[in-house]
Formats: sequence, C-alpha cells, structure tokens
Amino acid sequence: MRTPLVIGNWKLNGNKHTVITFINRLCNKLISVIGCDVAIAPPIIYLYIAKHNMTTNSNIMLCAQNVDTNIYGAFTGEISAKMLKDIGVKYIIIGHYERRYYHKESNEDIAKKFALIKNEGLIPVLCIGESQTDKNASKTEAVCATQLDAILNSIGAKAFENSVIAYEPIWAISTGESANPLYVQKIHNFIRNYISVHDESVAKQVIIQYGGSVNANNAAELFNQPDIDGALVGGASLNAEIFYQIIHTAACVRNKKK
Ligand code: PGA
Repeated sequence: MRTPLVIGNWKLNGNKHTVITFINRLCNKLISVIGCDVAIAPPIIYLYIAKHNMTTNSNIMLCAQNVDTNIYGAFTGEISAKMLKDIGVKYIIIGHYERRYYHKESNEDIAKKFALIKNEGLIPVLCIGESQTDKNASKTEAVCATQLDAILNSIGAKAFENSVIAYEPIWAISTGESANPLYVQKIHNFIRNYISVHDESVAKQVIIQYGGSVNANNAAELFNQPDIDGALVGGASLNAEIFYQIIHTAACVRNKKK
C-alpha cells in the first residue's frame, strides 16, 4: 500500500523567523502522526535552518523547489543535486508550472534534472498538468502524456521507481479553486495507466500527488480517491496549523484504508 506524501511548497515566501516558528510548531504536532510522509520546501536558503531546528526524532523531510541541470562548474547562481544531497535534502521539485512559465524550462531541461536527481539517489517530484485552454479543448491527457514522455523516452519507466509525480492543473494553482476530486482521480488513473503500459509494478508504487489550492477543507475528499497519494501544497502550507491538518487528514484516510 502506498504511503501518502504531503509536501509544503513555500515558493518565494518566508524568512528566518517564520521558518523557525513553523518548524517548532510542526515538529510538536507531528509526533503522533503515522501514515503520511511529510516534507517542506522553503526557499533553498532556509533549508539548512529548517533542518537545524527540527527535533532529533523529527520525521519531516527536506525538499528543494528547484535544481540546476549541471552538477558542478561555471554556472553562476545555480545549485546542484549533489549540493542539495550534501545538506540532507531528500526530494526535489522539478517541472513546476511556475518554472516552466517564468523560467522557460523545457521538457528536455526537466528530463535532465530528473536524471541527475536519480543519479544522486534523491527523489524527483515531477510536476505536470494542463492549462485551462488545454482542458477546454479536452487535451488534458495529451498534455500529461507529453510531459511524462519526456522522462519515459529519455530515461525509461524504471526512472519512476521511488519517484513522485505531482499532477497540478495550472488553472487550479493559487486560485483558491481546487479541481474536482473525481476529475483529479480520473487524471491520476490515466497517469498510472500510462506508466503501467511500460512497467506495471513501477506504476503501482509511484506516488501521484495532487496540487492546486489544496486546503484543510478539501483535503479529505481528495485523499479519499484511490489514486491520489497526498498533495503538493502551496499557500496552505505557510500556516503550520493548516498544513498539519492536511497531513493529519492524509494519515487518517490512509490508516482507514489499511
Ligand atoms: P497552491 O500551490 O496550493 O497555492 O495552489 C500549489 C503549487 O503550486 O504547488
């Protein structure tokens, strides 16, 4: 049975003080939660502070919001998967819509990052998803397939072993309007089946998160769907109490299914 994974993507938010307060609050609350993997992705500069403020028995993992397509060398301003591993990062988000859009990242760039992350033994969180225009034109599955093909055709289906996919419809990101859980389930099922054609056992175990305006009120209905394995949470992850409620919901749903 898959263990759900809830990741808090802080994007370009937070400061030293909010990171420390957040970690203290979350560590206290999470002590009794079993049945959900948890990671936080503050801006990279705060990862180390987050780590050093966790209690020794903390099960919160570190996640980076981005990584470079190179491992070392003359690439001013970049950070490599090796460096992230060095400071204890476990997950790395790649292909987020905001990076595809604002930084013009291509599927080829994302495939390169995926391969480097796997080489370091870290876990990529591959974001895919359609725009409103794609959805209106019934192209959701075709868009997701193309984004998955970038990995399947260059690295192969085995790359998805111990990897994470985050289905994030662009129209639901930061809009306050989460996608309908049944719609999300349908797309997650499509994603799993698409990988299954290449490798059934990998498809069965790959974690497929949903992302896009997840909050404490809509989490249960989403997590109750059989192919939704947790969430990539943006805005609602900035508040430790709300983030905890989402994690707690994921754990309760999972423990009930057991
Ligand atoms: P949101 O962001 O929860 O604020 O919609 C999700 C994401 O972009 O990962």
